[in-house]
Amino acid sequence: MSDSPISHHPGGGLPMADSQGTPEETSASPEQKAQMEQAYAQMRRKMRMTQLDEEIKHKVMVLSGKGGVGKSTVSVGLALSLARQGKKVGIMDIDITGPNVPKMLGIEDAELHVEDGQIFPAIGPHGLKVISMAFLIEDPDKPVIWRGPIKLGAIQQFIGDVAWGELDALIIDFPPGTSDEPLTVSQSLPGIDGVVIVTTPQDVALLDSRKSINFAKTISLPCLGVVENMSGYTLHGKAEPNSQISVMGPTGTAIESTTDENGDWSVTLDVFKSGGGEAAAVELEVPFLGALPFDPGIVRGGDDGVHRIIAEPDGATAAAFDAVVNNVLVELEGSSGPTVRIS
Ligand SMILES: Nc1ncnc2c1ncn2[C@@H]1O[C@H](COP(=O)(O)OP(=O)(O)OP(=O)(O)O)[C@@H](O)[C@H]1O
Ligand SMILES: [Mg+2]
Repeated sequence: MSDSPISHHPGGGLPMADSQGTPEETSASPEQKAQMEQAYAQMRRKMRMTQLDEEIKHKVMVLSGKGGVGKSTVSVGLALSLARQGKKVGIMDIDITGPNVPKMLGIEDAELHVEDGQIFPAIGPHGLKVISMAFLIEDPDKPVIWRGPIKLGAIQQFIGDVAWGELDALIIDFPPGTSDEPLTVSQSLPGIDGVVIVTTPQDVALLDSRKSINFAKTISLPCLGVVENMSGYTLHGKAEPNSQISVMGPTGTAIESTTDENGDWSVTLDVFKSGGGEAAAVELEVPFLGALPFDPGIVRGGDDGVHRIIAEPDGATAAAFDAVVNNVLVELEGSSGPTVRIS
C-alpha cells in the first residue's frame, strides 16, 4: 500500500501496529520480513474492519444506474435528515473524480485531522461526520487520474483508517454507475445493510433501476428500495379566495386548481413526468422509499453549501427527505433478516 496517496504512517499504521512484534526483531530474510509485514498489515486491516462493523450500526450504499440523478444530493439529505433526528451519522464520499459532498455541506475547506495513523472526519451541520476524497485533492480544478488498482487500494485503506467512532448510520455516496468502487467497498467493509437506488421519474428509470438492482444482486447486498428524485415541481401562488386558477403545464395542457379561503393555491407540475421510480420499484419488486420534489432550492443549496434541509428545515423538501428516511429505517430495522434480499 506504499503507493497509496493517503499513507500518513508506516505500514498502514493502525493503533496496534507498534505493539506487535515487528519483523525487525526477528532474524528473517528481507523477503520473509516483507511477507510477515504484509501478513501483519492484512491481519490489522481485517481486525479494523471487524471493529468498524461493530461500531457502525447501519451502513447504507447510495447508487444509481446513471450520473446526475441526485445521488450526492440524496446521500447528503438522508444523512442530514437522520442527524437532525439526533442520530450519530457519518457520510463517506467515495467519488474520486467528482467529490462534491463537502461542497454541498459548506465544508469544502475543512482539513482532515490525522492522529496515530487514524483520519478524523470533518464535522458538518448537526454533527454529521464527513469523509471525502475531496479533502485529499490539492487542486480541485485538476482532474484526478489514478490508475484503477491505486484508486481501489486508496479506497480500501481510506475505509480502514477513518476513526468514525460509534455511529447509528453511515451513508456511502458513489460515483455514477455500477463501477469498481461499490464493489471494492462491499468487499472491504463488512455488514453493509444494503443499497438505496436513486432514480428520476422518466420511463427509462426502470431500465436504470433494473441495472442497479442487478448490481446489488451481483454483490450480494439487499436492495433497501428506490427513491424517485426530481419528482414534481410545486408552484404556489395567490388569487381571489375560492376561485378557479389555471396553469399551463409542461406538456402544453392547462392544469386547473382552486384557491382556498385565503386565496392560496398550489399546482404540482410533473417536469420530468412522474411515477417512474415507483413503477420501477413495483415491477422490480423492491420497496418504494418515496419521491423527492424537484426543488430549484436544491440547486442553489448545492452551490451555496447550504443543503435544503438546513436552509428550510420545515419546508416540503425537508419533509420529503424525512419521509424517505422513515421508510429506509423501516427497511433497516427489519434487516436482521433483510426484508428484500436479492441474492
Ligand atoms: N430534487 C432536486 N431538485 C432540483 N435539483 C436537483 C434535485 N436533486 C439534485 N438536483 C441537482 O441536480 C444536479 C445533480 O445532482 P447530484 O450532484 O446530487 O447528482 P449525482 O447523481 O450525485 O451526480 P454524479 O453522478 O455526477 O455524482 C445538481 O446540480 C443538484 O443540485
Ligand atoms: Mg455525485
